[in-house]
Amino acid sequence: MTQVTTRRGEVAVRNLSKSFALNGQRLNVLRDLDLDIRGSEALAIVGPSGCGKTTLLRVLAGLEAPDAGEVRIDDAPVQGIGAERAIIFQEPRLLPWLTVLGNVAFGLQVRGIAAAEAEARARQYIRLVGLTEFETAYPRQLSGGMAQRVGIARALTVQPEILLLDEPLGALDAMTKLTMQEELARIWRDEGVTLVLVTHDLEEAIFLADRVLVLPKEKGATPRLIDIDLPRPRDRSEARFVEMRRRLMAEFGLH
Ligand SMILES: Nc1ncnc2c1ncn2[C@@H]1O[C@H](COP(=O)(O)OP(=O)(O)O)[C@@H](O)[C@H]1O
Ligand SMILES: [Mg+2]
Repeated sequence: MTQVTTRRGEVAVRNLSKSFALNGQRLNVLRDLDLDIRGSEALAIVGPSGCGKTTLLRVLAGLEAPDAGEVRIDDAPVQGIGAERAIIFQEPRLLPWLTVLGNVAFGLQVRGIAAAEAEARARQYIRLVGLTEFETAYPRQLSGGMAQRVGIARALTVQPEILLLDEPLGALDAMTKLTMQEELARIWRDEGVTLVLVTHDLEEAIFLADRVLVLPKEKGATPRLIDIDLPRPRDRSEARFVEMRRRLMAEFGLH
């Protein structure tokens, strides 16, 4: 018998279908989707609004059960949420009565880790996202970008193998967004996590991802996987980057 070695953070999606009931009708959102995400890969998921990006991410997170098919992580079937996956939404949803340190340590404390150790580990990730000076600040004292950094630190503190992000930078201003994209690229490289990033920003997808999954809006159309074969760190103004953006836009009939 051959032994297949699985790396940590590998995701296999097999024959996945998901529909919703809408006005007494069935709305097929995902149909027979097959996808392999490699351990430590950065995969971006793009597509028009309503094509099922969030639905796919929620199924990967275990927040939503598929109608058919399955998701396997490191060769074990996904049943509900799990400690090896963390999800980050557009809004960080911080607890307003806790400081930055308290918010980041919270996830560890609810898992039964003693306060002192939880805080020590939290500090490490607060440093990683560049917020050491704001440890004692409360959420209302933070800018949008800083709050989202706290959310990222909180997710990383529990040391997930897979980080699922649903338009995490979508609510930020253009400048902050660029800085945060660079930070995400660095964090992904340093932490070795598998990154699954839903975004409607094609440039963000090219900047961060090894591969981009393009989900079509039309029913019956097949999703496409595009390799982003560009050296890192990536340069948005480099000719090959610009060419890749043109190719990806063409997928949507844009230019
Ligand atoms: N809980 C739900 N009940 C009914 N319809 C839903 C539900 N969640 C999503 N949908 C529908 O599924 C489609 C895909 O939604 P979503 O995955 O949120 O798209 P995206 O994130 O790509 O914009 C949309 O048409 C949406 O209205
Ligand atoms: Mg969405």
